[in-house]
Amino acid sequence: VSEPSATPPDISGATRILGLIADPVAQARSPAMATALLRQRGRFGAFVLLPMATPPAALTDVVAGLRRITNFAGAIVSMPHKTAIVPLLDELTPAAARVGAVNVVRRDPDGRLAGTVLDGEGFVAGLAAAGHRVNGAACLLAGAGGAAAAIAHALAAHGCASLTFVNRTPAKAEALARRVTAVHPRLAARLADAQGHRYDLAVNATSLGMRPDDPLPFADEVLDRTRLVAECVVAPETTVLLARARARGVAVHGGLAMLSAQMELMLRFMGVDLV
Ligand SMILES: NC(=O)c1ccc[n+]([C@@H]2O[C@H](COP(=O)([O-])OP(=O)(O)OC[C@H]3O[C@@H](n4cnc5c(N)ncnc54)[C@H](OP(=O)(O)O)[C@@H]3O)[C@@H](O)[C@H]2O)c1
Repeated sequence: VSEPSATPPDISGATRILGLIADPVAQARSPAMATALLRQRGRFGAFVLLPMATPPAALTDVVAGLRRITNFAGAIVSMPHKTAIVPLLDELTPAAARVGAVNVVRRDPDGRLAGTVLDGEGFVAGLAAAGHRVNGAACLLAGAGGAAAAIAHALAAHGCASLTFVNRTPAKAEALARRVTAVHPRLAARLADAQGHRYDLAVNATSLGMRPDDPLPFADEVLDRTRLVAECVVAPETTVLLARARARGVAVHGGLAMLSAQMELMLRFMGVDLV
């Protein structure tokens, strides 16, 4: 054991643990992003965020265990657990209840677990940071899973002019459109793209694009009627969809912006006192 140094150790007995619950987890970008932000704000060591590889069959046991670790402050929740974790929590924010999924959980001092979903707000904040407005925009959304639901609610909440839902399983897109219009009755919702519709924004909120041989969520003909194409997929950073859109002269917005825009919101929800 070396002599104590002048600078305090990064990790001490007082460190509070944050996690990323996902499977697989090795490719995840959030641990590095969270660590960079904690260091930048002088909170690394007070908190540390660790990847927690959690197979689906282990989720219930993992959550029960984390609930009992008194210096566990919370976790980011990623695929495939965002929906499955909901019934294991004690409390949901209104946003999480509407979407039916969470992407961050906080452990309160009494062991209660509260969840919220920041994907939608993160997506809109990422667009805003890049200079793109949602208010008044005609939008096309591919997908009807957790990310799509969060984004649909956020686009409607931020005043998009219209929202067209498309999905491989159309019944899920219809159900999502019903849920969103129940909260935002003035939203002009459409259930199919039609030739001639022009979009200010087309969002890929499916998981297509993670593999290079995936089919494309939007045909080239749709890209040609669109001003800005945005991704949810984080890895690769430039999906085939974005490369194709860019080659056709369409503006693009990558999936990483959505994640980086919500990292501060996630840490704050977990009780990190960022200044
Ligand atoms: N950047 C970020 O911060 C961020 C945050 C959240 C999520 N994401 C990314 O967003 C993507 C979606 O995540 P999620 O949680 O919403 O997943 P999810 O709930 O599993 O939903 C997946 C969606 O993709 C569609 N889909 C899957 N395979 C397809 C295929 N072969 N052909 C056509 N459609 C297909 C599904 O259609 P069906 O309904 O027909 O099954 C569904 O609409 C993932 O890539 C995830 O990594 C990024």
